[in-house]
Amino acid sequence: MQRLDKLLSEAGVASRKELKNIIRAGRVTVDSIVVRSPEQKVDEQTAAVCVDGQRVGKQRMILLMLHKPAGFVTSTDDPRDPTVMELIPPEYAYLRPMPVGRLDKDTEGLLLFTNDGQLAHRILSPKKEVWKRYYAEHEGEAGEDDIKAFADGIELKDGDICRPAKLIPQGAGKSLVEICEGKYHQVRRMLASRGMPVTYLKRISEAGLVLGDLPLGHCREVEVSELQL
Ligand code: URA
Repeated sequence: MQRLDKLLSEAGVASRKELKNIIRAGRVTVDSIVVRSPEQKVDEQTAAVCVDGQRVGKQRMILLMLHKPAGFVTSTDDPRDPTVMELIPPEYAYLRPMPVGRLDKDTEGLLLFTNDGQLAHRILSPKKEVWKRYYAEHEGEAGEDDIKAFADGIELKDGDICRPAKLIPQGAGKSLVEICEGKYHQVRRMLASRGMPVTYLKRISEAGLVLGDLPLGHCREVEVSELQL
C-alpha cells in the first residue's frame, strides 16, 4: 500500500505540492470513487487510479543532460558543496532523476540523469563500452608516444591499467581524450601519468550525445533514441 499523493508523484503526474491541490479538488478517483485525501493508502498493484478521468500508468521515465559547471559535486547530498541536484529544474526534479556516473567537482560538461535504473545500468556497464569524449587543457604537449601509450592502455600510478583510449592532440597544451570506462579522476590521472597535469577538463560527448551549445548550468530532456548504445 502506498499514499495516493506519493503514487501519483512517482507516476510523474505532478509534484507532491501540486498533487495536494489536484486531489483536494476532487480530480482523482480510486476504483471510480473520488478521493480527496492525499494521505489515502492505495494498493498500487490493483487500484485503478485516474486523474481527470485518465488512468495513471507507471512512472514517466526521463533522461536529461546537464551542462555541469565547475564547483558542483556529483552527489545527491553534500555537507560542504552545492550538488548537481540543485541544477535540475523543478519540472523534472519531482521525477527523481539520478546522475548517471559522475563528473569531478572541478570538471565541467555533459552529465546525464535518469530515473530509469535499467537505462543507467546500460550506459554505465563496462561490457557496453560507451565512449565519452573530453576536452582537456594541460601542461606540456601531447606527442606520438603519448598517443601510442593511450592506445596501448595507460598504466596509472596505482598500477591500475586503463582500457585502450584515444588521445587527439589539439596543439600545445590542449587535447581531446576518448575513454570507454569511468575510473576515479581517470582523464586527469591518464594525462598526469604522461607528465601533462590537467588545468581544465570538460566532457563534450557521451554515448554519441553531444553537449553542443547547451548553456552552462542548463538541462535538456533527451530521447533514449539519441543515445548510441
Ligand atoms: N576524468 C576525470 O579526471 N574527471 C572527470 O570528471 C571525468 C573523467
